[in-house]
Amino acid sequence: MSIFLHFINKKICDFKNIILQKIAIIINKITLGKMAEGSVILGDCFDVLAAMGQREADLIYLDPPFFTQKEHKLSTRFTEKTFSFSDTWSSNYEFALYMQKRIKLMHFHLKETGALFVHCDTNSNYIFRIILNNIFGKENFRSEIIWVYKRWSNTSKKLLPNHQYILYYTKSHNYTFHKTYLDYSPTTNLDQNLQKRNRDNRNKSVYTKDKDGNIILENVKKGVPLSDVWHIPLLNPKAVERVGYPTQKPVLLMENILKIFSNEGDLIVDPFCGSGSMLVAAKLMNREYFGIDSSKEAVSVAQKRLDEPKKTTSFLTKRDYTFYNNINDMIRHKLVGVDCNFIRRNKGIDAILKTQIKSKNVFIRLQRHNESVQSAVDAIEKAVASKGGSINIVILSDINNGEFVKPRTKELTYLIEDIPTMISKITSSLE
Ligand SMILES: C[S@@+](CC[C@H](N)C(=O)[O-])C[C@H]1O[C@@H](n2cnc3c(N)ncnc32)[C@H](O)[C@@H]1O
Repeated sequence: MSIFLHFINKKICDFKNIILQKIAIIINKITLGKMAEGSVILGDCFDVLAAMGQREADLIYLDPPFFTQKEHKLSTRFTEKTFSFSDTWSSNYEFALYMQKRIKLMHFHLKETGALFVHCDTNSNYIFRIILNNIFGKENFRSEIIWVYKRWSNTSKKLLPNHQYILYYTKSHNYTFHKTYLDYSPTTNLDQNLQKRNRDNRNKSVYTKDKDGNIILENVKKGVPLSDVWHIPLLNPKAVERVGYPTQKPVLLMENILKIFSNEGDLIVDPFCGSGSMLVAAKLMNREYFGIDSSKEAVSVAQKRLDEPKKTTSFLTKRDYTFYNNINDMIRHKLVGVDCNFIRRNKGIDAILKTQIKSKNVFIRLQRHNESVQSAVDAIEKAVASKGGSINIVILSDINNGEFVKPRTKELTYLIEDIPTMISKITSSLE
């Protein structure tokens, strides 16, 4: 009898628990459903997404732990706090199951026309590809975007890792894609730009001709279609948007994703939002958004950023690397055969010789086309002022007319047209 009563009591208890649980889920659905947009929610994204009514997201971007097997730690300028999050796992199987469970839910919350982007690196890209192919279908894989950045560091015995991946899948074949073009490379000539092309019978690209054999011109082409390799700089230590969150991503990178794959008013979701870089980009670009993070500190820093969303607009991020390559193309041309390192982002110096001459660094500047010789000399001398004794070389462009130049500093400044011969002259004059 008592066993029977215990059984009945337990059933009533279970029933009560189930009812309470259901009520909690309904309340969560109503509150989360209403409150989600424009907010940052604290919690495991699995629990939060499971408790929500279907969200119909247009774009989900996740930058989850990468299976680095590390504790990520960094401090912020907002508080004295050190931010951290854990990325340690017992096996890649555990990691895969954890991610699969969450990505399945994200797939459920995507609109039929929606897209999902997974940010990862070589530690886990192979795991994510399998999970994503299973959930989205191989046919809905669109691109593996390679984010390339410059980083200077002495790594151990391996190539310096300078890229990460953003895996892009869509829920169906109907999706948003705004075609984007980049400028042609500086070596593209006007003819290549204007002349119409088609394919010959061997499928080779040839210029289109009219019946009299004249080449047909067309409107200027829009440029080179954007590829899946994106050169976007890492945040520099002084960037205004940097908040000191470990692995914080540049808003510029997030904006690129939104610009190409979403529209104003779309709902953007970041379920591992960290310091909220994607949410900041979404807010700046008039998208609806919400983020989730399991760390209290992350939620608070993301909320703070959203109160006053900022994006770094440094010279470097505005111009991208190709700008520097253009200057460098001229310098490289002049310095063929000279063993030197090219210097970027310095107003006065373009290159430095890899070996010193008589224990002095040798700095090089190429005179610009719109620059007087005196200005070129002044520029290099100003730039080396704090660099100790040096030898400075200004390579003259073809436009100086015997202009008289007065070096202003005690450093040696040489004006030359042919650098390899000049270097041997400088060396012998210092013997
Ligand atoms: C790589 S960071 C994201 C960085 C972010 N993109 C930024 O720019 O600041 C990964 C974030 O995922 C959070 N996280 C880890 N597991 C989570 C989970 N199950 N649900 C929600 N957030 C989680 C961590 O707290 C961490 O903030």
